[in-house]
Amino acid sequence: MRKLPTYTMTSTILVTGGTGFIGSHATVALQQAGYSVVILDNLCNSNPSVIEGIERITGTRPAFVQGDVRNAQTLDTVFTRHAIHAVMHFAGLKAVGESTQIPLAYYDNNIYGSIQLLSAMQRANVRTFIFSSSATVYGNPTTLPIPESHPRSATNPYGHSKLVVEDILESLYASEPGWRIARLRYFNPVGAHPSGLIGETPQGIPNNLMPYVAQVAAGKREKLQIFGNDYNTPDGTGVRDYIHVTDLAEGHVAALRYCEKADQDMLTVNLGTGEGYSVLDMVAAFKAASGRPIPYEITKRRPGDVASCWADTTLAKQKLGWAATKGIKEMCEDAWHWETRRTMPG
Ligand code: NAD
Ligand code: UFG
Repeated sequence: MRKLPTYTMTSTILVTGGTGFIGSHATVALQQAGYSVVILDNLCNSNPSVIEGIERITGTRPAFVQGDVRNAQTLDTVFTRHAIHAVMHFAGLKAVGESTQIPLAYYDNNIYGSIQLLSAMQRANVRTFIFSSSATVYGNPTTLPIPESHPRSATNPYGHSKLVVEDILESLYASEPGWRIARLRYFNPVGAHPSGLIGETPQGIPNNLMPYVAQVAAGKREKLQIFGNDYNTPDGTGVRDYIHVTDLAEGHVAALRYCEKADQDMLTVNLGTGEGYSVLDMVAAFKAASGRPIPYEITKRRPGDVASCWADTTLAKQKLGWAATKGIKEMCEDAWHWETRRTMPG
């Protein structure tokens, strides 16, 4: 079989969605690991000022192309102008609730976008691909912690789009030699870079727990609604595996290095901490980190929520030599630092 080159530390990585929450932290981690980065983002859910934050943290400004992953011409131009060695694909839409309202937009962006990107990679003969999948593919877990072998299912268009792209990658891998693919299933990414220079910037009312709690602590929202306290969990509220976004970013670098060492491979791996915390645990941790009260009320369950979800992290340790290092204290402190810097910049 044809031997693929092992890339040097100056390889250039295309990061789609690189001005978004996770992509921006991955860009920092890549640059700090010695890679060059080209970001492709259409800015539908992010701001170009993120580039400044990345530059201030790393001392290097990543190349930035404002464009859409669904645009074949844009992609061909990127692959022609830059010697791209691997692609990390973060670009996509991610709000579960919204995906039930505008499913076509989700399938178009997440599935068609991935197909366009993979087709452009074929044309450019780039065969290393790191994909943002999600623990949502486990549906309602039947075993905890959740191993990668757990059956997959989807209850909403967002989750379905992740399942379909996972399957597309499997078909592609089987169809021709030389692909090096990592399907990374994230648990609940939270926090921000400790510098306070980049973080999560939700538009409108946050869907996710941590940004909502941060806004309550900052006095921007009156109180948190806790969606149910009658789950079969120690305190009745939902339990999740929250992972610091910088740990998640390091997991991507580890996955890239793993792929670089292989002639071809298809890796599917959980990126989580292996620890579950309840909504009330997170509220208490955020209260301690911010020194602010977090008023809340218990409301009814949110449709589609599962009681508990946390990762089996054995495979990540074994295959990638990677494990999360930060706990909920750092997650809350860094999320609070980011929230206060944005509220009181300077
Ligand atoms: P994000 O919205 O902050 O970042 C996504 C970025 O992609 C944004 O900057 C957006 O402008 C860009 N984008 C969207 N559609 C695009 C398109 N068609 N062309 C070019 N750019 C486009 O989201 P995130 O939290 O950083 O998530 C990144 C990836 O990780 C997504 O694929 C998401 O589904 C996946 N994921 C996220 C979570 C989470 O809780 N944040 C959990 C599991 C998986
Ligand atoms: N929650 C509240 N109030 C809120 C928001 C959330 O009580 O205002 C609760 C939820 O009911 C759940 C927990 O906080 O018990 C976490 O909810 P999030 O919305 O923060 O996260 P989810 O676990 O629902 O989903 C997130 C991403 C998905 C991804 C999944 C992977 O939004 O895209 O993690 O585990 F697929």
